[in-house]
Amino acid sequence: RTTELDSICLKAEVIPVITINRLEDAVPMARALYEGGLTVLEITLRTDCALDAIERIRASLSGASIGVGTVLTPAQYRQAEQVGADFIVTPGATDALYRYGVESPVPMLPGIATISELMTGWQYGYRRFKFFPAEASGGVKALKAFSAPIPEAHFCPTGGISVDNAQDYLSLPNVMCVGGSWLTPKALVDAEDWNGIRELARQAAERFHH
Ligand code: 3PG
Repeated sequence: RTTELDSICLKAEVIPVITINRLEDAVPMARALYEGGLTVLEITLRTDCALDAIERIRASLSGASIGVGTVLTPAQYRQAEQVGADFIVTPGATDALYRYGVESPVPMLPGIATISELMTGWQYGYRRFKFFPAEASGGVKALKAFSAPIPEAHFCPTGGISVDNAQDYLSLPNVMCVGGSWLTPKALVDAEDWNGIRELARQAAERFHH
């Protein structure tokens, strides 16, 4: 699991966290990000059309790694498996999700925000986590503190990450990549400005490094 997640997360410094409001936006938006150089995408289950959107993106962008995010229950985990998720992302974690994830062929990046939550995931055998909400939960300082007792745990921080602080996170030895919604700003999505989104992705792909 750890190896699988590493091979996905290390492909991209930045993972766009995408919420699809209009099904017809799904493919052009994902393609713009992909063509801009961000080949790992997280699509959240926050809208009614999310599963259909993921299926369409899966079918049209075979080179992309698709994470399904905002998975709250094992039932949603199963739906994500069925639409071809490469990995699962959760905002927090429950025992039910941890147990389901251990058995699933699709690896999970569980969300944690505190050292106790990290220890729970660790006990279940997880070594890679989403740190969420990163900025509100102590940010770079918290991740530095986590590395003292558990240096082998590596993170994808999300929540409050932007062009201004992404590199601060990526410079930490226990950060694999960062995630965020800033690559799909509402104004560009509403205007269907896919060139603008491709350009944002291109800038992020060029600018940020481990
Ligand atoms: C997530 O689920 O990762 C967040 O919604 C992304 O957070 P952001 O909107 O602050 O980037």
